[in-house]
Amino acid sequence: MGKLEGKVAAITGGASGIGAGTARLFVHEGASVVISDIQDAKGEQLARDLGPSAVYQHADVTREPDVKALVELVQDKFGRLDIMFNNAGSVRGCPSILEVSLEDYEAHMAVLMRGVFLGVKHAGTIMKQQGSGSIVNTASVAGLRTGGNHVYNAAKAAVIHFTRSVAMEFADYGVRVNSICPGGIVTPIFGIAAGLSADKADRTLEAAGNALKNFQPIPRAGTPEDIARAALWLASDDSSFVTGHALVVDGGFTLGKTWSANVEMWTQFFASLRAAV
Ligand SMILES: NC(=O)c1ccc[n+]([C@@H]2O[C@H](COP(=O)([O-])OP(=O)(O)OC[C@H]3O[C@@H](n4cnc5c(N)ncnc54)[C@H](O)[C@@H]3O)[C@@H](O)[C@H]2O)c1
Repeated sequence: MGKLEGKVAAITGGASGIGAGTARLFVHEGASVVISDIQDAKGEQLARDLGPSAVYQHADVTREPDVKALVELVQDKFGRLDIMFNNAGSVRGCPSILEVSLEDYEAHMAVLMRGVFLGVKHAGTIMKQQGSGSIVNTASVAGLRTGGNHVYNAAKAAVIHFTRSVAMEFADYGVRVNSICPGGIVTPIFGIAAGLSADKADRTLEAAGNALKNFQPIPRAGTPEDIARAALWLASDDSSFVTGHALVVDGGFTLGKTWSANVEMWTQFFASLRAAV
């Protein structure tokens, strides 16, 4: 028996990368899954591939009517909503803060933070009524350390703390709220960040995988399945005493440099001290 047998899940940003990997695992574990995204052709294809346990619904997470309609569809079709995976996201470039336009700032915050707020609010309404549920928000290691896109980092830090804040309120209603902080995971998001179209970004996975191998102490790139397994744990009853948690799944990225880079740094430092006397 699967870990999500009989459960109903909605996944935003479910057409690609982490969301798609999670949709596959949740269906495999027995859930009915509503995949939502703004990439309709890809989302519809994935739902067809996954068979009768999956359906696709367009939802732009920056638009409240779309998010409300998504959870209402789940409620109408299945009569309940057990798992809400607020996962949609994107990022553009790594500009100096002096070059970030207000429009760019608003666009990042809209998808990364407003999208999570709307998902929590509307899924939370149904879950509070039914007296159970698990909400999982995709944050990032970018919300825990610096480097990269400033607005993205700030939005992801906001997701982590927003998760903790609402987890306290929802604990009284039998609803848990947690976040996941992925490290470098091979998905098209890096191609999009580099300014490529979605079609071209889909063709960057091999290059991204090679580049990400050495970003963290564990010497391989992360995969959508790594994050899907973390989402499965937080979504399932296996984590029934866990709420407000930020689960880091990053191959050790937040530990700092790789060990060999550390050894090289210290070796050079000690050598410079010996040379100085
Ligand atoms: N890949 C990584 O290394 C990594 C690391 C940390 C966090 N994340 C986060 O993981 C989440 C998933 O990203 P991914 O890596 O799978 O990238 P991805 O590009 O493969 O998937 C993101 C999905 O979100 C969708 N999306 C974008 N804007 C949307 C909107 N307004 N409404 C609905 N859907 C929208 C995209 O169409 C896409 O299908 C994001 O929140 C991202 O910030 C990714």
